[in-house]
Amino acid sequence: KSILLIGVPADQGSRRAGCLMGPDSLRTANIARRLSRLGYEVLDDGNITAAPADEILHTNPNIHHLADYAALIHKLDQYCATTLTNNHIPVFMGGDHCIAAGILPALARTSENTGQEQFVLWLDAHTDFQTLESTDTGNLHGTPVTYIIGDPSFDGVIPGPSTTIKPENICMMGIRSVDPAEQARIARTGIDIHDMRAIDEFGVAAPLRRFIDRVRRANGRLHVSLDVDFLDPDIAPAVGTTVSGGVSHREAHLIMEILYDSGLVTSLDIAELNPFLDVHGKTSELIVDLVASLFGQRVLDTQRRSI
Ligand code: ARG
Ligand code: MN
Ligand code: MN
Ligand code: MN
Repeated sequence: KSILLIGVPADQGSRRAGCLMGPDSLRTANIARRLSRLGYEVLDDGNITAAPADEILHTNPNIHHLADYAALIHKLDQYCATTLTNNHIPVFMGGDHCIAAGILPALARTSENTGQEQFVLWLDAHTDFQTLESTDTGNLHGTPVTYIIGDPSFDGVIPGPSTTIKPENICMMGIRSVDPAEQARIARTGIDIHDMRAIDEFGVAAPLRRFIDRVRRANGRLHVSLDVDFLDPDIAPAVGTTVSGGVSHREAHLIMEILYDSGLVTSLDIAELNPFLDVHGKTSELIVDLVASLFGQRVLDTQRRSI
């Protein structure tokens, strides 16, 4: 199979600039060459951008860049509908986590067309489960999970998702920062959440394998959404919303290796990489190394195959 790289240099999700450099930083860290060395045909489709839109005013005065969010979602949705085929594994290089709001409904629609269920592994320090009403930062990168499962706070404000994701098909790992407004709502959704406490106690392998088994039994397609702040800030400083106590270097690789072995991953996005905050490119290099593990790089170079 071949891998299709797609840059999405978007940074409307927060007030801190820099995520728009994410795609080029991953390219500079040789993401294409690393993947082609693993035996894939790698195509780079360049960058997707949405033209800046006139601000939509919202009753929550903290919200900013709402029109840009809607424009990005629409652009990504159109792109996915017209360009993606089952011949490629798309790898979206963000861009802040707003990109997930555009990508996932489109992927879910494709899955529906093949009679399959869309599953999501959400690797993040945050649940990104704010609504337009509850967000106190007004940063829309804190809302994509709410958006993709469908939420009344978006109704009549911006167009909703073309296809929604079932909350029970989402598994979150690495969670360690949940706002009060997110706490109660997230518990009610049935999202499968493994916070850092659970990872400390049980590790990453057992819960991940249980989720993978669920995807396999449902004949599902699995999207991986990797927010850089999932990782511990000591190893991945290039992100605007660092939270200490994150996932370690080896835990992250193990997750990727288990995912590769499953053969179930059909798409990936990399979100929140802010190269302006990096230390000599080390975060971009780590992310590229993790992506290589997701696509079959292993410590002992045997038994390689393509997913
Ligand atoms: N929950 C916080 C907020 O709503 C942080 C969100 C961080 N999200 C992210 N994609 N980095 O502002
Ligand atoms: Mn901005
Ligand atoms: Mn995050
Ligand atoms: Mn996030």
